[in-house]
Amino acid sequence: MRKKIVAGNWKMNNTIDEGLQLTSEIASMVVDEVANDAIVVLAPPYIHLTKVKQLIGTTKNMYLSAQNCNEQASGAYTGEISVPMLVSVGAEYVILGHSERREYFNENNKQLAAKVDACLANGLTPIFCCGESLETREGGDFIAFVCQQIKESLFHLSKEDFSKIVIAYEPIWAIGTGMTASSDQAQEMHAALRGYIAEQYGNDIADNTSILYGGSCKPDNAAELFACSDVDGGLIGGASLKSRDFVDIVKSF
Ligand code: PGA
Repeated sequence: MRKKIVAGNWKMNNTIDEGLQLTSEIASMVVDEVANDAIVVLAPPYIHLTKVKQLIGTTKNMYLSAQNCNEQASGAYTGEISVPMLVSVGAEYVILGHSERREYFNENNKQLAAKVDACLANGLTPIFCCGESLETREGGDFIAFVCQQIKESLFHLSKEDFSKIVIAYEPIWAIGTGMTASSDQAQEMHAALRGYIAEQYGNDIADNTSILYGGSCKPDNAAELFACSDVDGGLIGGASLKSRDFVDIVKSF
């Protein structure tokens, strides 16, 4: 059975003290309140990783993620962080190909394929983001566009490696805008992606791939989105910065 996952993408927010406070609040609420088996992933900025990991400790179902990585293992890449470095501080996941990285840092499908390979070679699980702009949606070819992103960055993988990937569908027009995709829109895309994965890797792999929704997911819309048969959880931005909201989203399955 595929995993249910709620991942909090803090983006470039929180000083270290704020981040640790948020982590403590979330960890204690998860312990006290969460009765389901959802996996809870925190993706703070790089400098928080070591300390957030210490705070999470062995809290049941809580894991650590980075928001990006470099595809090289080491070398003269000033300012960059490699996958072995992330593994060395206890990260288990990494968000790859977020639309903000594609837009502001020119990441493309080919470079993301190299990042995916670096992660899998080191046992780090990619949360691979895909999603279309409003212009592409209004142009009508949005499903083909998102399938192409997946194909170019992931379909070179073996079955075994693909089975380790988590996908996050994040329509760009819904990120940080308060304009959530409707549950019908999310379900349509998630089902299409699962069908596309099935064509490439077979039904077994497709059925076991967790596909998260991201884009203005909040406590008041999470339950409806997570009730869709092909939505396996969420990648949460703004609402992951408030412990109460984030844990309420985790409880929405
Ligand atoms: P949002 O961001 O929840 O603030 O819309 C989601 C994301 O960018 O991952």
